[in-house]
Amino acid sequence: MRPAKISILLSALLLTGLSFANADAGKQATPAKAQNAVADAAGDDGREPIALTASERSHMLQGMRTYLEALQGITESLAANKPDGVRDYAKRAGAEMLQGTPLSVPLKAPIAFTAMSLNTHEKFDVLAGRAAKSASRAEVLTALADIMTNCTSCHAAYRVVPAP
Ligand code: HEC
Repeated sequence: MRPAKISILLSALLLTGLSFANADAGKQATPAKAQNAVADAAGDDGREPIALTASERSHMLQGMRTYLEALQGITESLAANKPDGVRDYAKRAGAEMLQGTPLSVPLKAPIAFTAMSLNTHEKFDVLAGRAAKSASRAEVLTALADIMTNCTSCHAAYRVVPAP
């Protein structure tokens, strides 16, 4: 499947998920204090857990390492004044990465998570397009800072736990 088609499919899943999320809103079964005690015992650090199978987790983390490699490659290419390198590394972390993504992950993950993930791929594709038209260093750095804001906000909000 082409990356564009996968994006459309994921967006459709996102919209379907919205109605589930609304149905869940406001549910607070356990009192906060009891919840905290359970959370501490489970090593909770305040981030929202996403329960994934071993293979889904391994696929996700592999994608994360690709992200990190892309950032490294882009920074290195920028330092060496190689816009082609910036373009190629950014492209690798773009929507083409969605090929082979297990569709079960967007179904299990919160909508905001999937939205941020799609947005990150899109930002890499936009950067690849700009680098191809020889963007200035300042433009590439601004795009990088913007992309890294997605990395840090998502890491601050979510963690992966084994599916029960
Ligand atoms: C949509 C959410 C999201 C975005 C965006 C995101 N990450 Fe992650 N990343 C995660 C989660 C969740 C984990 C697992 C963290 C945990 O379980 O403690 C993770 C883990 C990682 C890991 C560890 C990989 C391993 O092998 O253990 C690296 C490296 C990483 N991310 C890099 C990045 C970089 C670089 C970016 C930005 C270009 C990024 N991530 C963007 C959610 C995200």
